Amino acid sequence: MRCRKCPTRAVIKIPRHHTAFCGPCLTEFVRTQVQRAIKTERMFTPDDRILVAVSGGKDSLTLWEILLALGYRADALYVDLGIGGYSARSREKVEQFAQQFAEPRQARLLVHQIKEEEGAGIRELADLVRRPTCSACGTIKRYHFNRVALANQYDVMATGHNLDDEAARLLGNVLRWQEDYLHKQGPNLPASVEGFAKKVKPLYRLTEREIAAYALVNRIDYIVEECPMAKGSKMLLYKDVLNRLETESPGTKQTFYWRFLERQANQTSTAPSMQDTDRTVLQPCRLCGQPTTADTCMYCKMMARAKSALV
Ligand code: AMP
Ligand code: FES
Ligand code: ZN
Repeated sequence: MRCRKCPTRAVIKIPRHHTAFCGPCLTEFVRTQVQRAIKTERMFTPDDRILVAVSGGKDSLTLWEILLALGYRADALYVDLGIGGYSARSREKVEQFAQQFAEPRQARLLVHQIKEEEGAGIRELADLVRRPTCSACGTIKRYHFNRVALANQYDVMATGHNLDDEAARLLGNVLRWQEDYLHKQGPNLPASVEGFAKKVKPLYRLTEREIAAYALVNRIDYIVEECPMAKGSKMLLYKDVLNRLETESPGTKQTFYWRFLERQANQTSTAPSMQDTDRTVLQPCRLCGQPTTADTCMYCKMMARAKSALV
């Protein structure tokens, strides 16, 4: 199989684009897709300071590498969740990456440790508040991402969510017709009210497979194992279903998600914007000051319950 752009041997076939690329042409393709996402969704400009949330996995480390290679001002945040050996190994990958790719470009890595800050790791905290680990983890991660981005005056927070993640999430929301979640899903979530950092997903045009190939070609060493808490999750099932559809009919995933974004863009030009709706219902949490629809935010409620169970 030959690369479609040059006479070299291809390393990856991309059926949804009817194409195949060698290593250097794949690198160019992936970076162009990221640049296109940043521009068309108006995510940020070269003057903005970006904080990339890095987990040690292929997506977020690849995202950090691409933003640095494209000349953006990108630092990163790793949240150590205290999930035994898994957290230790993922942290090691992040630190290795920072040394090899970020430090030479004067970019820095911030590390937050949940055990140190909250007195227990994510599993213990979830048990204490009797919530599934992944859902407690989501609340805690979102809280830390937002707080660190605002405290350090970053203009925008970027995560490594890719096309597979977004399409799987969309499928989950559609299957349950969760309309309020559908409104909030997108690659660019503006800082709608004071206290919320702007959040973007510059990899939404790329599949997991394309990102893994990019990481391999560009020697990005990442943690391959999934979080042990994710086993049997609905998201993995939705991804599997979408992959089967994609094999039979290339382009399904992309069409599913991109058409949703097109519809959303058409609707927001006629309906009241998310920003307006948010502004009317959100108020500062009485304990931490972050925006919430209630008197106390979900994070503070959870922490109060966990602390009373710890003493
Ligand atoms: P996940 O929800 O695990 O699929 O992760 C989605 C995105 O959230 C990743 O691509 C990262 O950008 C970010 N992320 C996940 N876990 C962490 C972590 N422990 N520290 C910092 N960022 C994370
Ligand atoms: Fe949060 Fe696995 S990453 S529970
Ligand atoms: Zn709060």
